[in-house]
Amino acid sequence: MEFDLQQAVLLHKSLQAHLLQTETLVANLVINLKPNSVLNITEINRVLAAIATNNHQVSKALLLISTKLAENNHNQTDPAIKSALIAAMDNSNQIRSWMAAWPQIDYLVRMQVPAKRRKLFHKTTAENDITISQLSAYDSAFEDLRVLLSTNSQGADALNHGCFPDISLPNSVFLENVHAAYRLMLAQGHATQSQFIDVGCGCGMKVLQASKFFNHAVGLEYDEGYANDAQKLLAQMYVQNTLIIHGDGITFDDYKDFNLVYFYRPMRDTELLKNLEDKITSSVTPGTILFAPYNQFFYRHKDLNCAPIGGSLYLAKSTKAQANALRRKAELTGTFFNKPGNPVPSIWDPIIKVSYEKGFGLDNSNKMT
Ligand SMILES: C[S@@+](CC[C@H](N)C(=O)[O-])C[C@H]1O[C@@H](n2cnc3c(N)ncnc32)[C@H](O)[C@@H]1O
Repeated sequence: MEFDLQQAVLLHKSLQAHLLQTETLVANLVINLKPNSVLNITEINRVLAAIATNNHQVSKALLLISTKLAENNHNQTDPAIKSALIAAMDNSNQIRSWMAAWPQIDYLVRMQVPAKRRKLFHKTTAENDITISQLSAYDSAFEDLRVLLSTNSQGADALNHGCFPDISLPNSVFLENVHAAYRLMLAQGHATQSQFIDVGCGCGMKVLQASKFFNHAVGLEYDEGYANDAQKLLAQMYVQNTLIIHGDGITFDDYKDFNLVYFYRPMRDTELLKNLEDKITSSVTPGTILFAPYNQFFYRHKDLNCAPIGGSLYLAKSTKAQANALRRKAELTGTFFNKPGNPVPSIWDPIIKVSYEKGFGLDNSNKMT
């Protein structure tokens, strides 16, 4: 039977209808995957299967359209059919790439169902542990870079004020705690407005590292030379979501604006360190995550109304039961944190977005179109 204009138009319409159907199924899946919704595994499996079937129809329609177009070109038949087929092929490369990406999206969803606990901290005490050995080499190289990037030694004013010089917490320890803090923020629903501050940021390496996890990373530093080093480092790296403030943590008035406050024993003077701890813990809002990896804070945390969560993290103005409940909720999040880049828009974007809100993602998602 002759292929006519009406069939060409119908083919176009059928492709559009299948794409629309995919969008509807994606929206349905997103409702089922939302944070805090109880996962209906049967329904999620049904929708995944329906999307796969629909994708098959989309690919079949695309193939038919391109075959008919090739035939039409060869036979030089009706120009009206040709233009109808060309219109149907509009966006075809993009649609093909969406179809090709589906197995990865399907995998992304299946990572989330059924819900599974993933611990916040992954410590091993085994001797000759492969990860510990590798991290120790990584920490040592990171420290070499920090020394290279610090052009100033401690100033006299900071020394007299009772400050410690810029002594660095090993970056691997920092990483495991900020990663856990990020997942706690996901559980709190705060991860999309995350504000981090390093009280006593030295030359700013931890602010740089934190900028990979959080929307905004601030470094507060008393020592002017260190603050200048930090500012220079972040400007040279073109890191947009950071700020260095030259100021005193004891009199800083904006702790309430942060949902993660990091302080690594900034002051040598024990009484002044207490003042700093008092100031931070009294001015943050309840539920703020504090990251304080040193003994004095560990011994004082109960008196300061903070509850331990794990690692060196504490929940401010909270009970142990509240901290435990939050930790358990955070253990149900995924471990993915990479902020989405600027990928080409895709029909799967709503799934990628809802997954990201729960800590799930594909490490190569920005290559996916
Ligand atoms: C132990 S270092 C920590 C450096 C960095 N935060 C890290 O974890 O690698 C302490 C830093 O806190 C700064 N500091 C000490 N007292 C401070 C205060 N009251 N306000 C702001 N910064 C302070 C010191 O100058 C020093 O750079």
